[in-house]
Amino acid sequence: MKTNINKLLISSTLNIKDALQVINENGLSACFIVDKDSSKMIGIVTDGDIRRAILRNVDLFSSIMEISNRKFHYASIGDTSEKINSILSDNIKILPLLDSTGIPVDYATISHLRYLPIYEPSLHGNELSYLNECIKTGWISSQGRFVKEFENKFKEFINVPYALSTSNGTTALHLALVVLGIGPGDEVIVPDFTFVASINSIIYTGATPVLIDVNKDTFNIDTSLIEDKITHRTKAIMPVHLYGNPCDMDEILLIAKKYNLKVIEDAAEAFGSEFKGIKTGAFGDIGCFSFFGNKTITTGEGGMMVFKNEELFIKAKILRDHGMLPEKKYWHAYVGYNYRMTNMQAAIGVAQLERAKEIIEKKIQIGKGYRRELCKNILGIRLVKENTNSVNTYWLFSLVIESELGWNKGKIQQKLQDNGIETRNLFYPLHVMPPYNKYIKKDDKFHVTEYLSENGFSLPSSTFINDDNIKEIARIFSETYQMNTILK
Ligand SMILES: Cc1ncc(COP(=O)(O)O)c(C=O)c1O
Repeated sequence: MKTNINKLLISSTLNIKDALQVINENGLSACFIVDKDSSKMIGIVTDGDIRRAILRNVDLFSSIMEISNRKFHYASIGDTSEKINSILSDNIKILPLLDSTGIPVDYATISHLRYLPIYEPSLHGNELSYLNECIKTGWISSQGRFVKEFENKFKEFINVPYALSTSNGTTALHLALVVLGIGPGDEVIVPDFTFVASINSIIYTGATPVLIDVNKDTFNIDTSLIEDKITHRTKAIMPVHLYGNPCDMDEILLIAKKYNLKVIEDAAEAFGSEFKGIKTGAFGDIGCFSFFGNKTITTGEGGMMVFKNEELFIKAKILRDHGMLPEKKYWHAYVGYNYRMTNMQAAIGVAQLERAKEIIEKKIQIGKGYRRELCKNILGIRLVKENTNSVNTYWLFSLVIESELGWNKGKIQQKLQDNGIETRNLFYPLHVMPPYNKYIKKDDKFHVTEYLSENGFSLPSSTFINDDNIKEIARIFSETYQMNTILK
């Protein structure tokens, strides 16, 4: 659960009674006063301050600034738990945690230390104002200016001729397979190590998924294993750019060309990633993206398909809209779907795209920061290999603990959790889960997927993570590692 800092904040323009109200509701005996324009913290007021003011007959409707403590104790959001704990005392029961600009983003008490979630969306651009526009104008369904605008800006960003928004990433993948004519009797190649939506979308069509192990250096489909799995029924390959790391699209396209296979890129986790200067999603016949709340850019729920071929785009658009022909309203030429995105989702998407470069840049910096700090003094952490040909946008910064080097994954995750740092296990291999183990074929081996899944996890990766957070996380790794090796 992410901290709700808003329950502690009060604008400097309000009065003492308002502060009493805030304190009464938050139950934390204090509130943080923020400047109305800059949102920076400028004072703190406790219930004791208000009690003393009442005894001095101060008017409850006077400005909160009259009784605020402007010289207050605080810590930085990246400070270590030790430092934060050392400030908290019987006198200082609540400590604001500020970001580098002085804005309060969290708080600490003896029973609540700051919390770094695995992901949280960054929604402080025009998201709210564009959403407001949808509500005010009544354009809340799938018509309205933002849907077209989002699609147009998205295709420009990826540098492809056509883009079509969908209700989510899973519907984008399903529609992509349908439009490419994939159905019962066909086989589609997919990595064993991915989120279930990749394989589910294949199963929805009636086609059979063919599972392939992944590469230990990239966590992506092992291209050297693909050709052995191709049969006369194979119709397509679905490479997944896992955790933001691009697949080697040269190798995949080469195989696809040799065997006349379609390529549906699952770029749900790789918005903005690049292979040889080209954005992921732009290589295949169709590229699919997800804008779920934890994705690099989000629309709450939402998806996008990108195409090079106009015919495929038109067909997908008709099928997305109940199979209705655009030139003949309410005439349905196909059994289609309702896979449309709403104007409200697209409004958020347009605002997110306005900050896409900034968000991507920040995520790349976070990835590089983790790499730098984790590789300094610590042995036995496996990261995906850096590839000079590609740009990894590190959707979730993921690593694998080499258990043979004295690490214990559970121990380090627990230590991080104790310090308010959330981690998330890597995906389970698909083949071990009940709905999918029927797709295992004789002699199939998934050693790498099993190894990564068992030993890996992701670290907090949202754009709010700063250098101090990364250093603290690396310090916890380093201490736990040394303790482990000493104890052995
Ligand atoms: C690899 C992958 N494919 C597909 C999806 C499906 O996207 P959505 O959740 O938007 O349906 C996701 C994300 O959730 C994903 O991580």
